[in-house]
Amino acid sequence: MSVWAVLAAAGRGERLGADRPKAFAPLRGRPLLAESLERLEGSDWIESIVVVAPPGWEEPVILLAEELGCGKVAAAVAGGETRAESVQIGVGEVAEDAAVILVHDAARPLVSDDVLERLIVALNEGWDGAVPGLPVVDTVKRVDGDTVVETLPRSSLVAVQTPQAFVASVLRAAVAGTGDATDCSSLVEGRGGRVKVVAGDPRLFKVTTPDDLALVESWLEADEEDEADEEDEEDDA
Ligand code: C5P
Repeated sequence: MSVWAVLAAAGRGERLGADRPKAFAPLRGRPLLAESLERLEGSDWIESIVVVAPPGWEEPVILLAEELGCGKVAAAVAGGETRAESVQIGVGEVAEDAAVILVHDAARPLVSDDVLERLIVALNEGWDGAVPGLPVVDTVKRVDGDTVVETLPRSSLVAVQTPQAFVASVLRAAVAGTGDATDCSSLVEGRGGRVKVVAGDPRLFKVTTPDDLALVESWLEADEEDEADEEDEEDDA
């Protein structure tokens, strides 16, 4: 099954306060984009990758991909004004014969093979799409300005992340329309598509502020220390 990934990286990331687009904000000395790009490249589930770059940053994206040895990158294209536009542009670069298109936010650097597997398995079960979701821990209310309109039943809510995977033809049809959806699934749902929620991953959270970047750095450092400890134990054995 041919699975293509569209990596949405064209956001400005103003809340990060960096002097460059969020995808190029430094994470442990590398552009933030490097982390998700390398992880998608290393996954056996993914055949090819389209990177949707901040306008004017297509060349640096290609150079980064070359530097990281990411041979699966088929195209780097300039994104649009909104995420929805950027995804539409990215999907337009996917090969006609792709069976599955997976859309991922570069702002969620810690994409794992476990999540990718859960999504692809759901599509193999016959769903039109699959998204990772986490239980909602806070009570969520719908408001009108500062007035509470209603309290939503928490047991029926999930917080949805990316990557989101879809049957290619279903996603192509869904993104063809206009609108400013904040995720792809809502476009598919809106056309009657059946989307499954699979278990998400707390580490897939979206980097928005400098504190978020620092948190992801601390997780990666802890991972490295764990790996070094494991290697030491193996050497001792
Ligand atoms: O803005 P937000 O944090 O929701 O962006 C989610 C993802 O969508 C980010 O990875 C960002 O780079 C991407 N995006 C995009 N084009 C835009 C806006 C956001 O590719 N115009």
